[in-house]
Amino acid sequence: LAQDKKWRIGFSQATTIEPWRAQFNKDIIAEAAKHPEVELIITDGEDKTEKQVADVENLIRQEVNALLISPKESAGLTGVVQQAIDAKIPVFVLDRNVETDKYVQFVGGDNKLIGRAAGEYAVELLGGPGKAQGNVVEIWGGMGTQPAHDRHDGFHEFTDKEPGIKNLLDQQSGDWKQDQAYNIMATALRNNEKIDLVYGHNDPMAYGAYLAAKDAGREKDIKFIGIDALPGEGVTWVNNGELSATFLYATPGAEGLRQAIKYLGGEKVEKNVVLPTLKVTKENAGQIMKDNGL
Ligand code: FRU
Repeated sequence: LAQDKKWRIGFSQATTIEPWRAQFNKDIIAEAAKHPEVELIITDGEDKTEKQVADVENLIRQEVNALLISPKESAGLTGVVQQAIDAKIPVFVLDRNVETDKYVQFVGGDNKLIGRAAGEYAVELLGGPGKAQGNVVEIWGGMGTQPAHDRHDGFHEFTDKEPGIKNLLDQQSGDWKQDQAYNIMATALRNNEKIDLVYGHNDPMAYGAYLAAKDAGREKDIKFIGIDALPGEGVTWVNNGELSATFLYATPGAEGLRQAIKYLGGEKVEKNVVLPTLKVTKENAGQIMKDNGL
């Protein structure tokens, strides 16, 4: 440990190829810069469970003072999180959960709530409660992740109440990726003459579906809803009229690190820290872009 450093904190990131995760890393690095007593070690799981498991084993061997992890998927990372806990390393789980609650803290958005907000808005776009009509394509995030399941469940709390809404796809996963969502949507367009709304579990997938519809000349007939609301991505696409709405899923980078530092300093921390969300439509998208220098 360098002389001026008091704490070595490890952060195991699932992948950096997705724009939201690149922002997440920027946020945690910016926060670390405010704490000269902290040495932050970031690893990149490269979107592979085995790689992320090896990363965490490595951080455990380095005897980090705290471990932050944003898992690629729940089941595959639970064992190594337990290993860290057994090694008496305080663990902070960020954004995607694991299948134990023996960690110190979970920090992330409320995906059930976000799913509900998306479902409520979908019903509104399709004609309103009791009157909504339309064929809906849902493109799931990673099947092995809690956010995808919560985003699905919350959405359906609203749309399943509408007899006029028909679900065209059952559990099709685009694994959070724009290109996979493009392919799913291209097939859905070929198989269905009428599609009214697409719900992507994140913005890259909603946008991939939009591009597929555009290439088929059908984007004007369809509404697209996503989640994440990065200013340069989802918010911009809403502002361009490509997506109808996106819902903020703030990265837990800064807050997660602050919480870990608080804990290492001997303070008590909450078991769960929930980050706020925000509905972004054409009404506020331009302002959000301006606020972010775009
Ligand atoms: C990035 C991402 C985000 C999404 C989050 C869910 O890897 O797919 O787009 O909101 O993970 O955990």
